[in-house]
Amino acid sequence: MSTVHVVSHPLVQHKLTIIRDQETGPKDFRDLVEELSMLVAYEVTRDLPLEEIEVETPMCKMKGQMIAGRKIGIVPILRAGLGMVNGVHRLIPTAKVGHIGLYRDPETLFPVEYYCKLPTDVEERQIIVLDPMLATGGSASAAITFLKKRGVHAIKLMCLLAAPEGIELIQREHPDVDIFTAAIDEKLTDHGYILPGLGDAGDRLFGTK
Ligand code: PRP
Ligand code: URA
Repeated sequence: MSTVHVVSHPLVQHKLTIIRDQETGPKDFRDLVEELSMLVAYEVTRDLPLEEIEVETPMCKMKGQMIAGRKIGIVPILRAGLGMVNGVHRLIPTAKVGHIGLYRDPETLFPVEYYCKLPTDVEERQIIVLDPMLATGGSASAAITFLKKRGVHAIKLMCLLAAPEGIELIQREHPDVDIFTAAIDEKLTDHGYILPGLGDAGDRLFGTK
C-alpha cells in the first residue's frame, strides 16, 4: 500500500490557507504555489540516497555527501502542474522535465490525453509527478499508468490538495506510488471539485476565469 505523507509544516499550512482564499489573485497564487511546491519537494526528496565524496574546503580536505542513485525527472500534468515546476526545479536544477497533457471531461470527469513529451531516458529516472489537485484521482492515475507503460518504475506523486476519493484510487491502482500533499480535504462535490479546496487550480494560476 502506498503511503500518504501530509506536510504539516507551519509555513506550508500558512501558505496553503492564502491560496485557498478566493481573494488571492493570480500573481500571489502562482508565487505561493511555487513556494509550496518547493517546501513539499523537500519532503518528497527526503529519502534520496547519498554518497560520500571528497571536497577541499579553504581549510582542509574532508568527506562531504552528495545525492547519488537515480537521476530525477519531474512530470507536471498540464495545465495546473506547470505551476509547480519552478519550485521543484529550484531545488533540483538538474531534473529533466516531461509533460503530460490531460484535461477532465466536464461531463464524465474522465481524463482525456492531449499531449505527452518525456525525457528519452525517463525509465531510468526517479519520477515526481506534479499536479496541485488530486480530486477523483483519474488524471494522476492515468499519468502514472502512462509512465509505467513507458517503463518507469520509480514514481512519486506530489500534490498540494488531495481528496480522500483520489487517494483511494491511487492506492488501489498504484500501490507502489507514495503520495505527498499539503492537506487532505473533506470530500468531492457532485462536479468533482475538492471541498473546501481552492477552486479550479488551472484557472487561478493562469487567470482564465
Ligand atoms: C485539474 C487538476 C488535475 C485534475 C484533477 O485539471 O489540475 O489535473 O483536474 O482532477 P481528477 O483528480 O478528478 O482527475 P483540469 O482537468 O481542470 O485541467 P487544467 O489543469 O488544464 O485546468
Ligand atoms: N481540479 C481543480 O482544479 N480543482 C478541483 O477542486 C478539482 C479538480
